Amino acid sequence: MKKLIFIGFAILAFFSCKKEEVKKESLYPTSTEEIAQTPEKLGEAIFQGKGNCVACHEVDKKSIGPSIQDIAKIYKDKGGNIVEFLKENEKPIVDPSQYEVMKTNFAITEEMSDEELKALEAYMYSNLK
Ligand code: HEC
Repeated sequence: MKKLIFIGFAILAFFSCKKEEVKKESLYPTSTEEIAQTPEKLGEAIFQGKGNCVACHEVDKKSIGPSIQDIAKIYKDKGGNIVEFLKENEKPIVDPSQYEVMKTNFAITEEMSDEELKALEAYMYSNLK
């Protein structure tokens, strides 16, 4: 039994080393893990995952909240700051009449790091036409 466990570990160790070698060699992101490291991809993952943003925002059409494209366009035109908005440091500039609905999600964004918030911003801007 002990021997079997040892062999198991040896195989595991072998494969994990190999994976790392491959990683170092590649110049371009190939594995999903690495792709998720670009801000846009990380932002997309958060937007659709733990950020819960998809519950109210679609890419190109209004649902409960404005579309990502509308938000990105207005923020670009007006020079707004999405990161500061998500930290509740800036007032709404897209649809202030519906701000109370958006506010219910700040409990989630409050827990996020600057890197995560910037990734969300990068993802939203990446949807600009
Ligand atoms: C419960 C529904 C809901 C969820 C969940 C939600 N939003 Fe919103 N969001 C809204 C509504 C409604 C508006 C329009 C009101 C407004 O402009 O503040 C809005 C507006 C916004 C705006 C524009 C704010 C402005 O200046 O007017 C941004 C940016 C935004 N949402 C980002 C996000 C991100 C990022 C997430 C996920 C972390 C998220 N929202 C999750 C409903 C939601």
